[in-house]
Amino acid sequence: MTCWKSQMQLHNANDYDGLEPPLGLSRDPEFLRWATRVQAISSSAVSIREASPVPLDGRRMKDLQFVCSPISVRSIEENLSTIVECLVLMAEIDNVHVGFCVSSPGVQDSDPLFVQVVAVAPDVQGRGVGLALLAAAVQREPRRDIALATQDDNVAARSLNEKLAKSIGAKIRKVSLSNYRGSDLGIQRGLGYRAWVIQRPPFEP
Ligand SMILES: CC(C)(COP(=O)(O)OP(=O)(O)OC[C@H]1O[C@@H](n2cnc3c(N)ncnc32)[C@H](O)[C@@H]1OP(=O)(O)O)[C@@H](O)C(=O)NCCC(=O)NCCS
Repeated sequence: MTCWKSQMQLHNANDYDGLEPPLGLSRDPEFLRWATRVQAISSSAVSIREASPVPLDGRRMKDLQFVCSPISVRSIEENLSTIVECLVLMAEIDNVHVGFCVSSPGVQDSDPLFVQVVAVAPDVQGRGVGLALLAAAVQREPRRDIALATQDDNVAARSLNEKLAKSIGAKIRKVSLSNYRGSDLGIQRGLGYRAWVIQRPPFEP
C-alpha cells in the first residue's frame, strides 16, 4: 500500500489528462478499439490480476464502468485512488480487460470483507468472469464474512452472490442496511439497496 501511494505521487495531472477521453468515451478511438476487441472475444479463459496504481488501469476501470450500467463512471484520478485504497482485481481474456471487482476488508479483524463493485463487460457476461472475480477477492480474506449490497431489480448481481455463497459452502442472508456504512458497501442510501452477508464456514488453514 505504502509503496503504491508513493508511486502514485509520481503521476501528475497531465498523466490523467492524456488518458481522459476529451470527447467522452463513446467518441473516443481508444475506447472504440477496446469495445471492438471485447466483442470479438470468444474464449472464456479468464485471468485475474491485481490492478496497479497506474493511469492505464484507472482508464481500464473507466472503460468498464461506462459499459456496465448501473456502475457509476469515475475519472481516472478517482479510479486510481480506489486502486490505492481498496483491492481492485482486473479480469482479462486474451490480454483484454473484461471486468473488475472492488473490495476492502473492514478495519477490525471481526469485520467482513466488503465487496463494493463487480462489473463485467456485457459482451462477455455469462461466462463465469463475475464469479471468478468474486472468488479471487474472497480467497484473499478467507477468515472474513462477506458483505454486499444489491438493488432488488439487479437479478444478475443477486444470483451471482448466491452462487458465490454456494461455491464456498456458505449461506447468504439479508441483514439490515443500517448495520454498515454506505461507504463500506460502496452505495448511496435511499436508492433501494438491500444488504447481505455471506457467513463463512469455519476457516481451515
Ligand atoms: C452481475 C455481473 C457482474 C455478473 O457477471 P457475469 O460474468 O455475467 O457472471 P457469471 O457468468 O460469473 O455468472 C455466475 C452466476 O451468476 C448468476 N448470473 C449471472 N448473470 C445472471 C443473469 N443475467 N441472470 C440471472 N443470473 C445471473 C448465475 O447464477 C450464474 O451462474 P450460472 O451461469 O451457472 O447460471 C454482470 O451482470 C454485470 O457486470 N452487471 C452490471 C454491473 C452490476 O450490476 N454489478 C453488480 C453490482 S456492483
